[in-house]
Amino acid sequence: MARDTARVFSGIKPTGHMTLGNYLGAVRQWVAAPDDGLFCVVDLHALTVEHDPARVRRLSRQAAALLLASGLDPERCTLFVQSHVDEHTRLAYLLECTASDGELRRMVQYKEKTARARTSGEQVRLSLLTYPVLMAADILAYGTDEVPVGEDQRQHVELTRDLAVRFNQRYGHTFTVPRATLPAVAARVMNLQDPTSKMGKSDDSGPGIVYLLDEPETVTRKVMRAVTDNEGGVVYDRATRPGAANLLDILAACTGGDPERLAEGYDGYGALKRDVAEAVVEVLRLVRERHAELAADPAAVEGVLRAGAERARGLARPVVDRAYEAIGLLVP
Ligand code: TYM
Repeated sequence: MARDTARVFSGIKPTGHMTLGNYLGAVRQWVAAPDDGLFCVVDLHALTVEHDPARVRRLSRQAAALLLASGLDPERCTLFVQSHVDEHTRLAYLLECTASDGELRRMVQYKEKTARARTSGEQVRLSLLTYPVLMAADILAYGTDEVPVGEDQRQHVELTRDLAVRFNQRYGHTFTVPRATLPAVAARVMNLQDPTSKMGKSDDSGPGIVYLLDEPETVTRKVMRAVTDNEGGVVYDRATRPGAANLLDILAACTGGDPERLAEGYDGYGALKRDVAEAVVEVLRLVRERHAELAADPAAVEGVLRAGAERARGLARPVVDRAYEAIGLLVP
């Protein structure tokens, strides 16, 4: 049956506490998405790097509670945990048979993470290489049209598109070809201590990362200590003044303004930082309050996830069965 709104799917992996980058780059777009979107705590992806089982479990629950606290409404969307729906791994294998080794080795995140693992003497898990294929399966299993993500995931969504087109060409039309949707500002929120690197939840540079559950005083301290530059005035230029541009992006995302215009209103960084801190504290206040209520009622969150997984299974099963048949397998 044809749908009159775009099917939206996106996910977040429980590898660390959720950050302001996740919120402004992705989660806010999810909350604003049309009804019937699917949002997933992609726990299998958290196993691609060294992990502590108890921590992954805890962070998965916390991510679900934070997504609800951020405004996802289980009456209007489907929220679930990836490992509760077998269709993701079932489809991933067919896509591994569609992808090439070379195209996966070209993924920027794979190159960065393997370089980091090798310097610290860690083994690189094979799943780190195949991870974007599982991500493609997450997306394609639901006939997704739009994937709201931050800038760092654009390449993975491009790969998903390539795999969908290739599969359709080889085996007949099976998958909808999805597209990434990025927010107008804050698609790449940078680390406050190193504004040339992304604010990433799996990094350990605490002072440069604002977490959704940080206390207001902590948020203010981190913003006030953000690294900027010694140039005069405040100008929006991502290339030459990345610290200032990051603060202006964050302010624009929180207040709905335009970063270049906002820059005109400031002579120095003190006032800008104060306004950024206030705007971020305000945006996170409601999330923290709602999260505290949800954390006190874990059974309610579990109920949402159970119902979500059931609904997701029902949607993914026919799509994945169709792919099994198209590729030449006997469907029982
Ligand atoms: P993850 O868990 O790293 O991040 C979740 C979402 O947050 C966005 N994001 C940011 N946006 C702006 N600035 C930042 N500093 C920042 N940091 C993170 C990410 O772009 C992402 O949208 N591979 C994905 C998870 C995934 C997925 C999927 C996403 C698995 N399957 C299917 C979409 C569809 C990831 O690691 O996101």
